Amino acid sequence: MPSSSQLSRCLSIVAVAVLCVVTKAQSLEFSYPYFSAQNSTDFVFSNSSSIGDGALQITPNSGNPAYQSGRVFYKEAFKLRRSNGSSLTSINTSFVFNIRSLSQPGGEGLAFILTNNPRLPTNSSGQWLGVVNNRTDNMTSNHIVAVEFDTRKSYANDLDDNHVGLDVNGIESIYQVPFGAVGINISSGADVGVSISFDAVSKSFVLYAALVNGTSAIGNTLIFTWSIDLSVYLSEDVWVGFSGSTSNFTQLNQIKRWYFSSLDTEDTGTPKKKKSLRSIWLLTMLPLLPAFAVFLYWKRKEKRRIYRYDRRVVRQDIELILEDCSKRPVRFQLKELKDATANFDPSRQLGKAGSELSTEVT
Ligand SMILES: *[C@@H]1O[C@H](CO)[C@@H](O)[C@H](O)[C@H]1NC(C)=O
Ligand SMILES: *[C@@H]1O[C@H](CO)[C@@H](O)[C@H](O)[C@H]1NC(C)=O
Ligand SMILES: *[C@@H]1O[C@H](CO)[C@@H](O)[C@H](O)[C@H]1NC(C)=O
Ligand SMILES: *[C@@H]1O[C@H](CO)[C@@H](O)[C@H](O)[C@H]1NC(C)=O
Ligand SMILES: *[C@@H]1O[C@H](CO)[C@@H](O)[C@H](O)[C@H]1NC(C)=O
Ligand SMILES: *[C@@H]1O[C@H](CO)[C@@H](O)[C@H](O)[C@H]1NC(C)=O
Ligand SMILES: *[C@@H]1O[C@H](CO)[C@@H](O)[C@H](O)[C@H]1NC(C)=O
Ligand SMILES: *[C@@H]1O[C@H](CO)[C@@H](O)[C@H](O)[C@H]1NC(C)=O
Ligand SMILES: *[C@@H]1O[C@H](CO)[C@@H](O)[C@H](O)[C@H]1NC(C)=O
Ligand SMILES: *[C@@H]1O[C@H](CO)[C@@H](O)[C@H](O)[C@H]1NC(C)=O
Repeated sequence: MPSSSQLSRCLSIVAVAVLCVVTKAQSLEFSYPYFSAQNSTDFVFSNSSSIGDGALQITPNSGNPAYQSGRVFYKEAFKLRRSNGSSLTSINTSFVFNIRSLSQPGGEGLAFILTNNPRLPTNSSGQWLGVVNNRTDNMTSNHIVAVEFDTRKSYANDLDDNHVGLDVNGIESIYQVPFGAVGINISSGADVGVSISFDAVSKSFVLYAALVNGTSAIGNTLIFTWSIDLSVYLSEDVWVGFSGSTSNFTQLNQIKRWYFSSLDTEDTGTPKKKKSLRSIWLLTMLPLLPAFAVFLYWKRKEKRRIYRYDRRVVRQDIELILEDCSKRPVRFQLKELKDATANFDPSRQLGKAGSELSTEVT
């Protein structure tokens, strides 16, 4: 019988191969009905942002919150289009934000961001909302499309202190709609539910918003529809998250729920349910892993007997597989996999309920 260290080496080889297939997937789906401190490894935080009071706190919720900016991004990017440019990705996202004024009135605002770089720009407090700064404003190299929820009128073309705007590479919105028109005051401390969808086929960007009460569903009051081809402005890999800022006017910029889904569309324009296919594939493969590992072990032993097969050749083969990975996967030992999957219990199946494999096992 193979020793456990040999077996675990084999298993880690198989696990790497499985991870490779999984991380090749280019779509993203996640759902946070609330945020707990344990979820913090799923996000990239700027220095002044955190998880607190069951929400993403984009700017500080303690200490001196004046002249701050912050960003919280999901830890993984998604592919907006394939490298050959043939197909675009559709997006659905919904979230609940809560802006509570700390000064009277409060300031400055919050933004939902799609961009190629999750890092917070320096000097992006005040009117910049953590989106850009006075050096990078309106530069095409920013690759940013943002939806701003602005609580201050900070320059001449800014509509008012209670509006939503679509921003492309800069803070001057290409399109703005007042929230007053639908009876919402975004800085009143109420929970505001927002749904945004980008349809890759019709190239339309649609935003709905309505007040939500507790855990109630997010309403569907249409705020605007805008025709835009995101791929003109964004790069291939897109990071998704929120930014916000304060000035001498201060407020809490909180995200209380967040759902996100991106789907690669085929050339026909039909969304392909990659996610569920992957789940089925994994569900089928996982129980077979130990058997496959044993098979690999015996096969290797046999080869070694006949050809004095060098273990390094096997390693090189794996390196070749790895090179084809879109992301470099992490290597797991049997014990780690067993711990993470409760000894391969089907109820802990990977890719279930919208959580990515990497969130499950890391
Ligand atoms: C966030 O953390 C909570 C508490 O640990 C956990 O129950 C929940 O599944 C996590 N959410 C996601 C989407 O991983
Ligand atoms: C964030 O904190 C790190 C470490 O404390 C520091 O090096 C960095 O300059 C800070 N970044 C900003 C933007 O304040
Ligand atoms: C782009 O690649 C996909 C497969 O990834 C293929 O189906 C499609 O035909 C390609 N399109 C072009 C224009 O090469
Ligand atoms: C977004 O939601 C609509 C309506 O539920 C659905 O038809 C579409 O496939 C979804 N797209 C994505 C990217 O999840
Ligand atoms: C940020 O602003 C400060 C003062 O307003 C300035 O000294 C500094 O050079 C700025 N940094 C950048 C990167 O623009
Ligand atoms: C950006 O802000 C700094 C510091 O406030 C200022 O010195 C500089 O002139 C500004 N640059 C532009 C392009 O407005
Ligand atoms: C942004 O730059 C474009 C040219 O690239 C220019 O037409 C537009 O007026 C600028 N917008 C702002 C707000 O400066
Ligand atoms: C919105 O609510 C804030 C906080 O209560 C208040 O200061 C502000 O005047 C309100 N704005 C409008 C337009 O009613
Ligand atoms: C929110 O829901 C609760 C009961 O679930 C209800 O008592 C309350 O009036 C609702 N508030 C609003 C503003 O609709
Ligand atoms: C912030 O500063 C402006 C002038 O720079 C001033 O008019 C305003 O009253 C200040 N706001 C607060 C809340 O102190």
